[in-house]
Amino acid sequence: MTSAIDWSEYQGREIEFVKDVLGFSLTPDQERATRHIWQNPETNIPSCHGAGKTFLCAVNVFCAVFVWDMQVVTTAPTARQVKLLLWKEINAIYSGCVRRGVELGGTIYKIPRMDKGSRAAAAVGYTGSDDNAFQGVHHPKGVLIIIDEACGIGGDIDEAAQACTTDASKDRIVRVGNPVKKGTAFEKACDQTSTPISAWTQPNIQPYYDRHPDGIHRLKPEYADPAKLRSLKPIIAGGITPQWIERMRVRYMENSLFWKTRIEGVFPTENTDQLVTGAMCQLSRSDGSAMLAKMKERGIEMSRCRRFVGMDPGDGGDATAIVEILEYEHGGKSDRPPGSLEYWIQAASEVEGLHDGLETARLLDLLQIRMSGMVRGAIDRTGIGTGLYKDSLLEGLDVSGVYVGGRARDSGAFLNLRAEGFWQIRILMAQGLLHVPPWVSDRLDEELCAIAYLESEASHKIQMELKAKTKQKLKRSPNLADALMLAIVRAMEVEEG
Ligand SMILES: Nc1ncnc2c1ncn2[C@@H]1O[C@H](COP(=O)(O)OP(=O)(O)OP(=O)(O)O)[C@@H](O)[C@H]1O
Ligand SMILES: [Mg+2]
Repeated sequence: MTSAIDWSEYQGREIEFVKDVLGFSLTPDQERATRHIWQNPETNIPSCHGAGKTFLCAVNVFCAVFVWDMQVVTTAPTARQVKLLLWKEINAIYSGCVRRGVELGGTIYKIPRMDKGSRAAAAVGYTGSDDNAFQGVHHPKGVLIIIDEACGIGGDIDEAAQACTTDASKDRIVRVGNPVKKGTAFEKACDQTSTPISAWTQPNIQPYYDRHPDGIHRLKPEYADPAKLRSLKPIIAGGITPQWIERMRVRYMENSLFWKTRIEGVFPTENTDQLVTGAMCQLSRSDGSAMLAKMKERGIEMSRCRRFVGMDPGDGGDATAIVEILEYEHGGKSDRPPGSLEYWIQAASEVEGLHDGLETARLLDLLQIRMSGMVRGAIDRTGIGTGLYKDSLLEGLDVSGVYVGGRARDSGAFLNLRAEGFWQIRILMAQGLLHVPPWVSDRLDEELCAIAYLESEASHKIQMELKAKTKQKLKRSPNLADALMLAIVRAMEVEEG
């Protein structure tokens, strides 16, 4: 153990300590937050992804231990987050000092612990579910509690943390995280005091974006070209980048739940968001003539286009829906840019369940009629669909039995196939690439607009709300929407080969 060095001359000059001793320049937002931490008992930082929140916590742990001789407890929802996020940064900063020959006068251990030589000042890391983390934590020079990924920390743990920081003259509590969930202890704390950080002030982002009159930030025209965008280099390696923001703009869309929480850095007004908005429905209302005109221009016959049918068989007397879509593919198959597939609803109908024991046979008839010609089908394989799927295979139909709760193709982003299929509908409609004829739009739009999506708690993947909730709002089952989703899932399957 090395002997303690007195760094107290940096009290009130923590930003200089970070620069002179630790060797880092903070971003303007990190400087603002650091000043707030050392001037106030409580600092809450809801922020965009990759703004350097965890890094900010790490440097302030050094300030607390070495400059202020305080006791620090850091926490995050999981042990992995404690070790791999904040303490990884702390370790890296410490090793950086050693490499540069700066003697801090302290020791760092593997167990998440760092202390200051002979003095009692120390920082330790605990997992947020550990009830004992904050028990008996007090220190004559003050206590700093750091809560990283604060949206994942429960109210009881947050209260325990607050109970250790009762002396406003020297104790400090800092909560940082993406504001991903309403109703959390983090949100309540942010209602009291908040030092937010959005993507738009980040050094990696700020030079390249303009705020438009609709409140949305977009790339300045001179950077919008894909090659130009690719060439932009980050000032802070590992921080948020324009390339990431633009990918997220396509994947989640502006003003989505994801956009608000990860890019704007603000809490959502609800924990769910509408899958499809009225504006998207408006954009998608079409008799298909525009798509037909484009096809004609390129000399593409409708008979050469792929067709997909989705069937959502009604269980227990519920109605069965069947939807057929026609696919138009712009350009060649290789290197297909996003947005080059377009769909037009050709048929959509519902048949009432009859409870007559002949359900499967009747539905098979219906499917056979719809699937004559080169049509590919998809059936929801659960419930009554199980038998129907088997029978349709025996009849030689080209159908897929879709288990909508099964693994998504992009399983990193979507909880299941249902979420992925519905998300594809959202993206197509937002771009006007799904043509919904007027004879079906009233009913289908109503269904699609009633569906809400959310982020799954643990994995942050996109999921659709439970169907029971949609049914409650609609006062019926979103059968047509489900059938359309199945047709789209089949189209995606074919795309992948
Ligand atoms: N001022 C800085 N100087 C040098 N590197 C920095 C600075 N701020 C952040 N970084 C680096 O940028 C990367 C992203 O920072 P960090 O992980 O702290 O962001 P975050 O806001 O916690 O991200 P997330 O939203 O994923 O939790 C890290 O590799 C970190 O070391
Ligand atoms: Mg972080």
